[in-house]
Amino acid sequence: IQKVVIDCDPGIDDSLALMLALSMEEIQVEAITIVCGNSPADMGFSNTKKILKHMGRLDIPIYVGAERPLKRDYVNALDTHGADGLGESFLPEVPGYENSMTAQEFLKKRFVPGQEGGPCSVIALGPMTNLARLLSDCPEAILSMDRIVSMGGSFKSHGNCSPVAEYNYWADPDAAALVYETAALYGKKIEMTGLDVTRQIVLTPDLLAYLKRLDPELGSFVSAITKFYFDFHWEWEHLIGCVINDPLAVVHFADPGLCRGFEAYTAVETEGISRGQTVVDSMGFYRKAPNALILTETDPERFFRLFFSRLLKCREE
Ligand code: BDR
Ligand code: CA
Repeated sequence: IQKVVIDCDPGIDDSLALMLALSMEEIQVEAITIVCGNSPADMGFSNTKKILKHMGRLDIPIYVGAERPLKRDYVNALDTHGADGLGESFLPEVPGYENSMTAQEFLKKRFVPGQEGGPCSVIALGPMTNLARLLSDCPEAILSMDRIVSMGGSFKSHGNCSPVAEYNYWADPDAAALVYETAALYGKKIEMTGLDVTRQIVLTPDLLAYLKRLDPELGSFVSAITKFYFDFHWEWEHLIGCVINDPLAVVHFADPGLCRGFEAYTAVETEGISRGQTVVDSMGFYRKAPNALILTETDPERFFRLFFSRLLKCREE
């Protein structure tokens, strides 16, 4: 079992990723930290509680982190995720959850070298502001992170919020740049689950209908939170289905054979029209050691088999 902290901004597909992570026996979710991104941090907190309640896992600690990016104005993605950040499902609020620490305090406690708790990884499903704040105070904390999987960036694919940038890295490019630079300094590799692979993971109406047939309650829940996302994808790009980015990062973490790619030195542009773009030195121009594993290939059928079977199995238990 691999221990992990999930840093996220729920968000429709973050919520699916959390449901999946909590259903996988390979993963032990130690804590969930919230960052502003798709939703403002307080909304991300409230949505995380809703998901944990649905999964019967309110025992997992949630720590709320950054309410704005490192250096710029915060731009949410509620146009994509709905007014409540959860596809306008308007699930009831879950009251009475005490936060003992902020995300910053928790991450420091968990990852500053010399702390107890054994190896633990990070899966980052939103802008990397929380991680960057930790690493700017204590860069060597990166050495205590067993693996770092990040949903973000794109290599050959176009962006999803500018011609070249993916939202998580666009929203806080300074944070993404700092995390990649710190990885380079300390010889770590960020496992970049970017749009090249995540855009292949399309939840279609057929798949959703089948999930409903297999388990009407689970199917209806997924349907309630993804309806808005389906409509967004249709209106924006006439896609019949919705791209669920974040769950792939979770599956890649548990099953590294699902995606393939290559290692390369990677930096993130912070300024101008290419703000948030991942500059992947696949040809080795910079002659720098790789600080990233860039995933470019995946198997959507295998992903959905695993996604469905784990969620269903967890409900049987
Ligand atoms: C990222 O932004 C959101 O739409 C998803 O939650 C994902 O983390 C993709 O650009
Ligand atoms: Ca996300």
